Amino acid sequence: MTAMAEDVTPDQFRSVMRHVPTGVVVVASTMPDGQPVGLAVGSFVSVSLNPPLVGFFVAHASTTWPLIEPLGRFTVNVLAEDDEATCRAFAMSGGDKFAGVTWHPSPTGSPVLDTALAWFDCTANTISDAGDHRFVLADVHDLSARSAGRPLVFCHGVYQRLGDWPQELRKG
Ligand SMILES: Cc1cc2nc3c(=O)[nH]c(=O)nc-3n(C[C@H](O)[C@H](O)[C@H](O)COP(=O)(O)O)c2cc1C
Repeated sequence: MTAMAEDVTPDQFRSVMRHVPTGVVVVASTMPDGQPVGLAVGSFVSVSLNPPLVGFFVAHASTTWPLIEPLGRFTVNVLAEDDEATCRAFAMSGGDKFAGVTWHPSPTGSPVLDTALAWFDCTANTISDAGDHRFVLADVHDLSARSAGRPLVFCHGVYQRLGDWPQELRKG
């Protein structure tokens, strides 16, 4: 018999979702005093090609998103496989997440991490409630990617590297 939604426990949900691999991005913005802020997000997704829209989900518990939401602008930085330490820093609440991280401003002034494989410069389009998360739909104003390098992947609760990878996409 199919379980009803109210029968699915958070533990059960987590134990099944851990089979779904995700990339990891850092959603980041710059405060009016110039201070960069950000958090690690695995729920980043391409939403629309024309117009260009992306999306991600942020937990109500996030302490950084409430700083970014009122500004309405942010970058999405796709992490490379050797950026696990960066990911761990941005996946924690508090602390100086940008310590040792070099970055430069995007065209709209949000942080582009120097080691990012790809980045998107965004403004919020629509933000809606989605259970214990918020769904952030965003307009993409600019974007860029490196020609080579593997993404960091998260699956089964651990960081992983893609094994089978085309020669032409390997770093020289
Ligand atoms: C691989 C990975 C993926 C994550 N994906 C999300 C996500 O999609 N949405 C979210 O709100 N938090 C996600 N998190 C958790 C946040 O990064 C974490 O809660 C962080 O402490 C939030 O920081 P903040 O309190 O400064 O906002 C993820 C963490 C990891 C390690």
